[in-house]
Amino acid sequence: MMKSHTCGELTDAHAGKTVTLAGWVHRRRDQGGIIFIDLRDRWGIVQVVIDRDTTPDAHRAADAARNEYVVQVTGEVRLRPKGSENPDLANGNIEVIARELRVLNAAKTPPFYMNRDQETIDETLRMKHRYLDLRRAKMQHNLILRHRAVKFIRDFLDNEGFVEIETPILFKTTPEGARDFLVPSRLQPGKFYALPQSPQQLKQLLMVGGYEKYFQIARCFRDEDLRGQRQPEFTQLDLEMSFVEREDVMQLNERLMTALVETVTPDKKILHKPFPRMLYKDAMEFYGCDKPDIRYDMRAIDVSDIAAKSGFQVFVTNAQEGKVTKCIRVPNITDGKSGQWLRNFTAELEQLAKGAGAKGLAWMALPVNEAEEVKGPIGKFFTVDQKLALFERMEAQGGDLLLFISDKREVTWSVTDTLRPHLAKELNLLDPNTLAFLWVIDFPMFLWDEENQRWDPSQHMFTMPMPEDIALLDSDPGAARGSQYDMVCNGFEVAGGSIRIHDRELQKKIFPLIGQTLEHALEQFGHMLEAFEYGVPPHGGIAWGIDRVVALLAGEPNIREVIAFPKTQTGSDIMAHAPTPAEAKQLEELCIRVHLPEEKPS
Ligand code: AMO
Ligand code: AMP
Repeated sequence: MMKSHTCGELTDAHAGKTVTLAGWVHRRRDQGGIIFIDLRDRWGIVQVVIDRDTTPDAHRAADAARNEYVVQVTGEVRLRPKGSENPDLANGNIEVIARELRVLNAAKTPPFYMNRDQETIDETLRMKHRYLDLRRAKMQHNLILRHRAVKFIRDFLDNEGFVEIETPILFKTTPEGARDFLVPSRLQPGKFYALPQSPQQLKQLLMVGGYEKYFQIARCFRDEDLRGQRQPEFTQLDLEMSFVEREDVMQLNERLMTALVETVTPDKKILHKPFPRMLYKDAMEFYGCDKPDIRYDMRAIDVSDIAAKSGFQVFVTNAQEGKVTKCIRVPNITDGKSGQWLRNFTAELEQLAKGAGAKGLAWMALPVNEAEEVKGPIGKFFTVDQKLALFERMEAQGGDLLLFISDKREVTWSVTDTLRPHLAKELNLLDPNTLAFLWVIDFPMFLWDEENQRWDPSQHMFTMPMPEDIALLDSDPGAARGSQYDMVCNGFEVAGGSIRIHDRELQKKIFPLIGQTLEHALEQFGHMLEAFEYGVPPHGGIAWGIDRVVALLAGEPNIREVIAFPKTQTGSDIMAHAPTPAEAKQLEELCIRVHLPEEKPS
């Protein structure tokens, strides 16, 4: 080995020992006769002292070294002289007096510094030189955290009797709502494999295969627009169990998630234990989305009945038209603020609300001093009694701001989902160390696809309807609930799963509902229906987005920060330049001709 110790492991106890270290020059200070090098390896940083008088050869080598040079040092560990300790370093009490120093490899001046915690390094530059970006302390921390999280998950599930089984990457369409990535077959020209959007069918077939408890840290591929927390290839903890009901899968996963957080990131606080359960319809009504951030309240409460009796025409007319009026209470914000501040603040919110489809955003500000009048454009349209009823419904107190959204129900959802996160950010309510997990359950089986005039599975086509709703598939599919459960945290869907259909006839019934002919379904999923003829156990499972879970644990706003080599927004790897055109010979072998659309003149 080229090193006897790591930089990070040295402590006061090593004083007097001779060690050989190797790593990168993190920082170098030349004080004439003496050069100081902060030597960095994966485990830490240690100060190396090179003295010209006692070790001229080592000094000459150190003189030539620059930041990010790779060097090897042999020398003696010594307690630093009194007063020169560095409390910022874990081993700031010691230093290594070099006897020999060898440059193992030189380095060009890097395009950005690895020795400072800069948050503002240009993203393109980071991606182009990702191998340098990965040297930064933050990235090393994140990827090592990821390793620890995945190892914890593996050990936990092993202990629970699960087996990890690999499933193929070259497979057939496994739809999860995105486009497939296709891989042409050379041996069978004109035919294509599809990369799995998830191992969904394969894990169900493993249940038919009798494994009962399966998991996999599985790579998934989805050709979709890369907004938000999405990558075209990402990692799932994929899990499936036989002879279980919804409750069994949820409880196991809740135990796993809780143990993971408490072991791997004990500094994080899980806000609610056990995780609350929220019906999909309540999530939409109160939070306007199916993955609410419940670190803060500010729910939208229906006040249509009170608003309808007021003198404010918009609310009255809307009530007559079957629209709703909802109110969001922003707590304790108006104290000491001027009327002008309130008008500006609410005008900005109104713009946001309009961007989400609202026609306006009425408001009332409750004074802290009860003798003062309620401020805002619509206070005058409410009688004293109506105001009191409103404040009681909203549990409002002096200093609160009430916001009103009056529109079609769907519009109130999108406005609520726009205003809440914005307000939470403004009010500084987004503590990344607090993890507010919850389960969202009782999703509709199908959502209506206006464009294609058909039902789409709200999860995927293998989800079992809630037992009491099976009859609705014939009469009113839109009202049928699925056995789906999503685990949500801080406004992100971190995992989703369901109990599966294990009845061939029921599975066959789903295809025409989602606009697939039986013929097409048999072509795509015939193997599933065939397998279902041979004794399928009742089964269900879930998949976690590992990238999202690790991003939450690391307190990172974007999953790119916990993936070693992520893709950019346009799905490119700008370090290796992928994707690239294929070579003519390759295309010929695959019998593929590329026909690009003509570029439109701009
Ligand atoms: P689903 O499609 O909900 O379920 O995916 C499970 C979890 O994977 C994460 N995820 C993603 N992460 C990063 N980039 C993406 N493009 C991306 N897409 C999804 C999310 C999500 O909750 N087969 C089912 C699971 C099952 O029913 O067992 C499935 O794939 O965190
Ligand atoms: P107006 O009488 O049109 O000036 O509106 C008075 C207040 O009501 C303004 O603050 C508007 O933003 C608000 N408002 C108008 N339409 C709506 C609506 N549909 N929902 C909520 N507030 C509205």
